[in-house]
Amino acid sequence: ITVQVNKPGAPIAKTMYGLFFEDINFAADGGLYPELVKNKSFETDENLVGWRAIKGAAALSTYLVSSQQPISATNNHFLRLTTPTASPDAGFINEGFRGMGVKQDAEYTFSVYLRKGPGNVSGLNVTIEEPGRGGNGPEAASSGKVLAETKITGLTNEWKKYTAVLKSSGTAAKARLKITMEGAGTIDLDVVSLFPKDTWQKRENGLRTDLVQLLKDMKPGFLRFPGGCIVEGRTLDERYQWKETIGDVASRKPLINRWNTEFKHKFTPDYYQSFGLGFFEYFQLSEDIGAEPLPILNVGMACQFNSAELAPITASGPNAGNAATGDLTLDTFIQDALDLIEFANGATSSPWGAKRAAMGHAAPFNLKYIGIGNEQWGPQYLERYEPFAKAIKAKYPNMQIVSSAGPSPDGPLFEAASKRLGVLKAEFVDEHYYAKPEWFRQNVGRYDNYPRTGPKIFAGEYAAQSVAIGSPDNKNSWDCAISEAAFMTGLERNADVVNMASYAPLFAHVDAWQWTPDMIWFDNLKAYGTPNYYVQKMYSTNAGTTMLPVQMPNNAKNGTDNLFASAVADDKAGDIVVKLVNYSNDARPVKLNLAGVKKMGKSAKAIVLASNDLQAVNSLQEPTKLARKKSSSKYRLRR
Ligand code: AHR
Repeated sequence: ITVQVNKPGAPIAKTMYGLFFEDINFAADGGLYPELVKNKSFETDENLVGWRAIKGAAALSTYLVSSQQPISATNNHFLRLTTPTASPDAGFINEGFRGMGVKQDAEYTFSVYLRKGPGNVSGLNVTIEEPGRGGNGPEAASSGKVLAETKITGLTNEWKKYTAVLKSSGTAAKARLKITMEGAGTIDLDVVSLFPKDTWQKRENGLRTDLVQLLKDMKPGFLRFPGGCIVEGRTLDERYQWKETIGDVASRKPLINRWNTEFKHKFTPDYYQSFGLGFFEYFQLSEDIGAEPLPILNVGMACQFNSAELAPITASGPNAGNAATGDLTLDTFIQDALDLIEFANGATSSPWGAKRAAMGHAAPFNLKYIGIGNEQWGPQYLERYEPFAKAIKAKYPNMQIVSSAGPSPDGPLFEAASKRLGVLKAEFVDEHYYAKPEWFRQNVGRYDNYPRTGPKIFAGEYAAQSVAIGSPDNKNSWDCAISEAAFMTGLERNADVVNMASYAPLFAHVDAWQWTPDMIWFDNLKAYGTPNYYVQKMYSTNAGTTMLPVQMPNNAKNGTDNLFASAVADDKAGDIVVKLVNYSNDARPVKLNLAGVKKMGKSAKAIVLASNDLQAVNSLQEPTKLARKKSSSKYRLRR
């Protein structure tokens, strides 16, 4: 194999390998966002999702979800609990997100808004416990094994926030929170929170440390958020609206998650977005892990797989004022995008820049990229994209726009969209491909003949599917991972047009997923990277700065005989990095010729990810069965 060191190609974009985040598979609530209480504000469609009256409580006491004099207009439901006779069973249990993960000696901040009603309620007993007999089900026994407890006292007749820190005496993956009344009478409760003190950067509303660390270790070039299909929503009413996700966490109104649905085989009827992880936190996370933020916004279309709802382009145009969209027009969506750019980058004296500063980040987030629409296609998309892009460019000429291209890996959708977007001068076209492992190996040359003058490529979502797209039986097998690695040599060889790529989806909770495969799996205590994670990490931590052309033996095509290769120079480190992928059964001795190299050290090192078993997977029990290893032997370099 000849690496043409003397014929350096295009620079590798700093954004080349990045992350795709979507709140699917409990990635946000129950995952990266470590709030342990589900439905803390009683604001979901069924107000008691996640809550259960303790066995006997219904007989001993009455409860209702009320909205009389709530704590705020957006958070206008709360729980009213009344008991005529004091009882240790007058109260509620919150089940968390498939239980609550707590660790021995770790501290958790409990907080709640309380208001005392008629009677003599003197306090609230708060317990973290392991479930007793009856588990977390409807017949949950009132007493489990207590891991931490405290009592809130000093109640008043006005809403007031109370906090207490609880230290857990044990480790449990499926603990729960119990709150009971002390005394008899009525008490109102709202915004019940149990939050680990140990968060990323020890922030009050911070993220789960082990999951952020896995992301940071990848040195990602960008972070795309908040999705995926949740950007669109099943209806326009259920679309993601970033403005609803910033400011005081207690006032953020939850929204049904687009993945709260029977998708393929798993039913997660309790799936809502609390927005505790909102746009401010996404920007902050991007900054923390050194990734360019890449928000994707709704283009005025609901998910095309679920509904045909469109925002009319003008107040008098087609679709104007229909029952589903009301007064909504494309202008609302465009304004949201312009305001978002101001929120991210604007001076603190600007209206939206001031909101960012009020949340604790006076410095701009330096947003450079914005996506318009997720996985949308056809003339309806293009006619909305055009005014959208024009408005953004008129106000922010340097903003780089990512346009969408529909879901197909091969079909005419992408071809047509990319041509049309070339005319409309989109900077990027966001391609998605979920396909069998062989598709990835066979399509390594996908971009070899892609026009060099059109929009650049953002391979925004891709993953090899071991069984079939969306099949619950898909595995993050070595077969999938090595096939993606093979395909990525093709991305790298075309780094002049491919400027961004991300595996999808990113996260999945082992007890609450809707989609497989996924890059990182976790339970309430632990997490592991799949072989696909380690492939991504090998590429992103060795991205280099300049592409180097590579000639395969006998001038064969990349991938001939199941051997794949690409190479980059890292101009800062003075390294040459060659990626070699061998999909065959046998070891393949390879001689590397570094053509035209001027200066050379004496040895090279190898970083290896390998298995003889194409079905091998990692798991919570064997998290690094397949992980990259630095080879102990040094490779001699010869002139
Ligand atoms: O990654 C899962 C889903 O796949 C995304 O939400 C969507 O964009 C794609 O269809």
